[in-house]
Amino acid sequence: MNLMESLLLLIYLIASITFILGLKMLSNPKTARNGNLIAAAGMALAIIGTIAFYTDSSGEHLGNHLWILGGLAIGGIVGTMSAKKVKMTDMPQMVSLFNGMGGACAALISIIEFKHLVHDFQPELYAGGGYTYFSTLDGVSLLVIMAGLIIGSVSFTGSMIAWAKLDGRLNDFAFSGQHIVNILLLLVTVGLTTMIIFLRPEETIEFFYAALVLSAVYGILFVLPIGGADMPVVISLLNSFTGIAAACGGFLYDNTAMLTGGILVGAAGTLLTILMCNAMNRSLLNVLIGSFGVSAQSGQSTGVQGAHKEMSISDVAVLMSYSSKVVIVPGYGLAVAQAQHVCHELEKLLTEKGVEVTYAIHPVAGRMPGHMNVLLAEADVPYEKLKEMEEINDEFPSVDAVLVLGANDVVNPAAKTDPSSPIYGMPILEVESAKHVIVNKRSMKPGYAGIENELFFRPKTSMLFGDSKKVLQDLIAEIKNL
Ligand code: TAP
Repeated sequence: MNLMESLLLLIYLIASITFILGLKMLSNPKTARNGNLIAAAGMALAIIGTIAFYTDSSGEHLGNHLWILGGLAIGGIVGTMSAKKVKMTDMPQMVSLFNGMGGACAALISIIEFKHLVHDFQPELYAGGGYTYFSTLDGVSLLVIMAGLIIGSVSFTGSMIAWAKLDGRLNDFAFSGQHIVNILLLLVTVGLTTMIIFLRPEETIEFFYAALVLSAVYGILFVLPIGGADMPVVISLLNSFTGIAAACGGFLYDNTAMLTGGILVGAAGTLLTILMCNAMNRSLLNVLIGSFGVSAQSGQSTGVQGAHKEMSISDVAVLMSYSSKVVIVPGYGLAVAQAQHVCHELEKLLTEKGVEVTYAIHPVAGRMPGHMNVLLAEADVPYEKLKEMEEINDEFPSVDAVLVLGANDVVNPAAKTDPSSPIYGMPILEVESAKHVIVNKRSMKPGYAGIENELFFRPKTSMLFGDSKKVLQDLIAEIKNL
């Protein structure tokens, strides 16, 4: 190993350590920002190191510097501008878009490396062995190329569909027998891969592109029918796919930084998928065959009827000020209203008055994993005040007042009581066991899953209509006047 190779290996090692450290730091809102910066610095170091020191097996340095720098500049500018511009509520779309790009890159690596493999194949070396890839060491590379191709293209098209659905550009779509088509697509793709391995390399090019197209179609059909409320699981799953596909690229290029980064994303995404499946009471197998929650967003009604009560700001102010225990349930509407700062102000005001205030965090509240944690951290809400669903559900019976701020699906009792509901089985925040429930939203319209919420009509519930920010500002003013 020459000096440059050793240096590059050291750089990759440092980069891998920064990824692991960054990921660890992301688990706490206080250190998350720095963790992100550290991992990004490690990635920058790995890129610069590769451009400067990488040599291939024949000792050649990387060429095409202008193309590489041009790509880096365009990607860097577009990425920075869109990240600065994006609204917090549009983050899931952005995550999907970026994730899709990662998948596309992994698939492109596979296409290029497959071409190299076919081009460099020397049948004379294998004349005695029937010269298929299987008979050579390239068979392993080919398997990794195929894995990168299939997983990367599923991740690319799936993420694009997820982006379009989250952005309201596409509705859920399903046809009868879709699961069977999905399974067939997968089986044919696996069949094609097997043929590519066992046939002579020059005979397999069409099969390779057929596998590319079929995986891309699978990605589309896999995500299209998935109902809105179940999208978080799918996004996280696609994220893990991209990580695995990128790890394939790392393996092919013997690039340890890319391999470690890919494995970390793949493992973290898989763990998050499992945690979210548990949180929503869905099985991972159902996600994989794209079968659950069909058309949850299509506005099904649970047939809830009845009258709801309203409460005035001044009554809510009195109720909260004279409570000893208040729980705030933040939801997507709080993020839309950008009311996190004023919400923290209310919490501080009530705390000063001797009220014990905590936040109940549902794992899929908002529109992305950890959305409410990030939102409240932005407003410097102390992390200890945030309570996970399992913990707070036991406490609700001793709570005087629950203030639901722009949350809907995560407090919908239909998830427990109505087997025909698209969210049936999803654990919810059991706010009803508290003494009073005040729900703040702008209207009686449904939330993300498109279904009505019985909670709004229950005897202990009172509605407090209006934009969360305005309502909270009025509430604070009212409490100060008491
Ligand atoms: P939702 O069920 O989406 O309900 C949010 C509510 O906020 C709406 O009913 C809306 O009612 C209200 N709202 C909107 N703007 C508001 C404003 N400015 N002020 C006050 N209220 C406002 O939210 P949730 O309870 O947080 O549940 C999340 C849902 O999104 C779940 O179904 C989940 O599965 C899904 N989802 C989650 C994720 C992740 S990973 N968290 C990703 C994608 C989808 P009005 O219009 O009447 O105001």
